Amino acid sequence: MKVVTSIAELQSLIATLRAEGQTIGLVPTMGALHEGHASLVRRSVAENDTTIVSIFLNPTQFNDPKDLERYPRTLDSDCALLNECGAQIAFAPTPLEVYPEPDTRTFSYPPTDSVMEGARRPGHFNGVCQIVSKLFMYTQPDRAYFGEKDYQQIAVIKAMVQDYRNGRHDDILIAGKPADTSWAQTLTIVPCPVIREDNGLARSSRNTLLTPEEHDIAPHIYRILQESKTQGLSVDDTCQWAIDQINAIPGLEVEYYSIVDGDTLADVHSWDEAESIVGCITVYCGHTPIRLIDHTRYK
Ligand code: PAF
Repeated sequence: MKVVTSIAELQSLIATLRAEGQTIGLVPTMGALHEGHASLVRRSVAENDTTIVSIFLNPTQFNDPKDLERYPRTLDSDCALLNECGAQIAFAPTPLEVYPEPDTRTFSYPPTDSVMEGARRPGHFNGVCQIVSKLFMYTQPDRAYFGEKDYQQIAVIKAMVQDYRNGRHDDILIAGKPADTSWAQTLTIVPCPVIREDNGLARSSRNTLLTPEEHDIAPHIYRILQESKTQGLSVDDTCQWAIDQINAIPGLEVEYYSIVDGDTLADVHSWDEAESIVGCITVYCGHTPIRLIDHTRYK
């Protein structure tokens, strides 16, 4: 596997691959890779001629500097895992390479990006769209793979791709040339299922920050979400039931639980209101505390 840090080198490699008629799969990551990421990379390797995995801890999506500071950084073991999974290129640029000047572009897709995480982490999804759109411009992928663990993120990225497909144009330079947004016409976003530990805890880079005691209580979150499906309650009562059950466990505190339309992410109040219904949760775990997110599908 080749490790590339410059955009110009990445783009020259991609030009060669394209000239050979190769298809390109992109797996965007922030590093601290685990089995969840490995499943995305393996799928991309199976479905594309070349798989590029970006490893970039994107500063513009962190609204809390402490969160960015304590985010795990494990480049050597990340590259070893990617090698094992069969990725051909790891792209690990510096912040200065990606943001030679501040990115002032704005992205807004309400309600998808304004509810839940969007309401609690101002600027977070704007930062996600800034980096993901740049990665698409660098790599012009055929397919891009994202974990469903960040359920809302996938919905926001799909809205952003649609925006470019409808003609959004960014007046920025990528490696000295005007941004090429033609990827939007053919790119497929591939959502991949959550990978869980045996006890049900969703795999996350943040799990390494949990103490052993916190690691033992965190799986109650998904267990309770699953149990909420069999209570026979209305949408609003199901939501409150899950919140009360989780808050009753010492060390866990729900920040929000929202039961939403699985496509638009708008709140629903009846089980008949949408074809797809998903519950999205954020819970503070332990003393630090570590913020854990998860979701479950009701229909
Ligand atoms: O999900 C993540 O790890 C990040 O939000 C992403 C998509 C790599 C953008 O920085």
